[in-house]
Amino acid sequence: MGLNGKVAIITGASSGIGRAVARNLNEAGVRFLLTGRREDRLSELKEELNHAAIFPCDISDPGVPESLLKTALDSFGRCDIVFNNAGVITTGSIDEIKLEDISYMVRVNVEAAFRMAYVALKHFKSAGSGFLINTSSLLGTKVRPTAGAYAGTKFAIEALTEALRLELAKTNIGVACVEPGLVQTELHRNWEIHPAQSLNIPRPLKPEDIARVVRFILEQPDHVRLARILVVPSDQEL
Ligand SMILES: NC(=O)c1ccc[n+]([C@@H]2O[C@H](COP(=O)([O-])OP(=O)(O)OC[C@H]3O[C@@H](n4cnc5c(N)ncnc54)[C@H](OP(=O)(O)O)[C@@H]3O)[C@@H](O)[C@H]2O)c1
Repeated sequence: MGLNGKVAIITGASSGIGRAVARNLNEAGVRFLLTGRREDRLSELKEELNHAAIFPCDISDPGVPESLLKTALDSFGRCDIVFNNAGVITTGSIDEIKLEDISYMVRVNVEAAFRMAYVALKHFKSAGSGFLINTSSLLGTKVRPTAGAYAGTKFAIEALTEALRLELAKTNIGVACVEPGLVQTELHRNWEIHPAQSLNIPRPLKPEDIARVVRFILEQPDHVRLARILVVPSDQEL
């Protein structure tokens, strides 16, 4: 995909991986609709980018994906890329984790991602092209004790991506997922012990490492699909 002038919706753009992807694609001439709950962060990023609009919201609100698409079309007249990236993490053994926390995580990581994909795909089909990239995880490919619920949400993203890859074969619509290992972002900001310490990963990935991979996926020739890419720190064993 030639990226210059394209329009991307980025969910989870207020920090971490989403923000880094916006910064990277900005260099390629992409225009953005940025979303997340923290309006101040989105406004700061908008100022940095060449062409961006913001839509502060809670992605777990079922009407949001439709509103995002409408706002992108109203603001820029098109929508070519959706980076389906917003996510939260809650961990604990299955008999001790708070069920309300699992429920909220499922609403954000799974339900909102499926709703966003649904809306994006309807639009891409009517436009005749487009690209959806989902953020999965290393924990979309394996399970770790205390991470069963989070891994479950990311296994769902893997299923979504693979089903769409098959359903969209022979079309001009691309779909892919990235599977990051540990990335230094705000995802674990409330943890007493950061996984860099508990998993002994002195050099986690940086959000920019994932951004380069997302750009690489988007810049493949039309006949090539990078359906999923696992990206892990060289220090990560588990
Ligand atoms: N960091 C890692 O080690 C790692 C590894 C594998 C996969 N991932 C995945 O990468 C994705 C991005 O996470 P990150 O690491 O970049 O963490 P992050 O810095 O915490 O970013 C998460 C983003 O999601 C947004 N978000 C969360 N809940 C939301 C909600 N209810 N409504 C709207 N936006 C919401 C946050 O925005 P607001 O807080 O402003 O709402 C923020 O922009 C997630 O899907 C995560 O599961 C991360």
